[in-house]
Amino acid sequence: MDTLPTLDHAHLAATVPLDRIDVSDPALFRDDVWMPYFARLRRDAPIHYTADSRFGPFWSITRYKDIMQAELAHKTLSSASSLGGITIRDRPKDLELPMFIAMDPPRHDEQRKVVQPIVAPANLARFEGLIRERVIRILEGLPRGETFNWVQHVSIELTVQMLATLFDFPFEDRHKLSFWSDCATADINAGGFIDSEEKREAVFAECAGYFMRLWQERAQKEPRPDLISMLVHGESTKQMPPREFLGNLLLLIVGGNDTTRNSISGGLLFLNRNPDEYRKLRENPALIETMVPEIIRYQTPLSHMRRSAIADTEIGGQVIPAGDKVVMWYISGNRDEEAIEEPDRFIIDRKRARQHLSFGFGIHRCVGNRLAELQLRILWEEILRRFPVIEVMGEPKRVYSAFIHGITELPVRIPA
Ligand code: HEM
Repeated sequence: MDTLPTLDHAHLAATVPLDRIDVSDPALFRDDVWMPYFARLRRDAPIHYTADSRFGPFWSITRYKDIMQAELAHKTLSSASSLGGITIRDRPKDLELPMFIAMDPPRHDEQRKVVQPIVAPANLARFEGLIRERVIRILEGLPRGETFNWVQHVSIELTVQMLATLFDFPFEDRHKLSFWSDCATADINAGGFIDSEEKREAVFAECAGYFMRLWQERAQKEPRPDLISMLVHGESTKQMPPREFLGNLLLLIVGGNDTTRNSISGGLLFLNRNPDEYRKLRENPALIETMVPEIIRYQTPLSHMRRSAIADTEIGGQVIPAGDKVVMWYISGNRDEEAIEEPDRFIIDRKRARQHLSFGFGIHRCVGNRLAELQLRILWEEILRRFPVIEVMGEPKRVYSAFIHGITELPVRIPA
């Protein structure tokens, strides 16, 4: 399928034979032209088979209610990394990276239980003060009257500081966290720094070495409410082999990194593209409460999660045969008109705003969802206290990926 931006994608998506539609093409997301293809699939082939793609053959689930059904079918739709893991791209077989998001019960449940308390109300309350302090410092330091990249100055910086807080990670080295995360998720064909699995593994080795030192330090001390200490002292995680230790740390870094970062960038873009909503927000900052989940729905920072069928499984009236790859496209379910009213509109005072698929559903539903919402809420409270408006000055640049749905550059200006 050709994805040159000059194409009339609405026309092409409506007319191309269904068996030629391949929604895994990363260019669809980089060029922001994915919408009509998913609309067509939801309408004409909600459980759709792509026989040939750069990621091999796969099934696409595109409707909200079918995605929920697939999420609940974890007994036959496996997340196991040995079967390929949780993204459409299979983990290379010899470079398996165990982490609990890519495990099935009972191991998944045991390991998840160890880190779940990081988002207990008492911990969230403890983080709130620190996050707010850091948000204020970043906002106060922003340039006025000149154009700068919001992603670099705010989205990345803020997210990295939040992660450093969760891990109690040396603050001066915090940028290593975003570097490792970017390396973990980079598409080797995107023309970036990570252009081979060997290079990725070299970065992982550095990351593992760094964390091993922190691990040993925390093992000598009493348990504390930070993610490393929790894993070090957790009954089902303290004996993890080194590769699984690395995998789980990367899960916690990546899980919180691109997702929160891209929600921070997306929010500002959506408000600028919807000036009436921006005005509504300025007039009534209490709307931040419903705007935050709306931003997360509208951005859908992870386009999909993948499963592998280990037995024939019926979803939405279609039997998915054992052995096949299944992709749940959250980005499509979040635009399903049967589940969400006027889904293509960004509406900051939506009713039932938290009813979206961006955090998944079922046993793997995002551990950090309340934390991500907290971070966004504090950010917008502090922005509105300082800046009547932040203007987007040009088109965003987007990530070349069918998994991370994100923005790499967003030129903005705060009036002097
Ligand atoms: C799982 C999205 C923020 C940690 C997930 C899943 C999604 C997701 C889609 C998989 C759900 C499924 O398979 O059903 C997001 C989004 C975020 C976000 C959109 C921000 C807007 C965070 C943060 C953390 C985090 C801040 C904290 C470190 C995790 C972990 C899992 C997970 C550990 C694995 C859960 C499991 O397998 O049981 N997230 N996430 N996420 N997320 Fe998040």
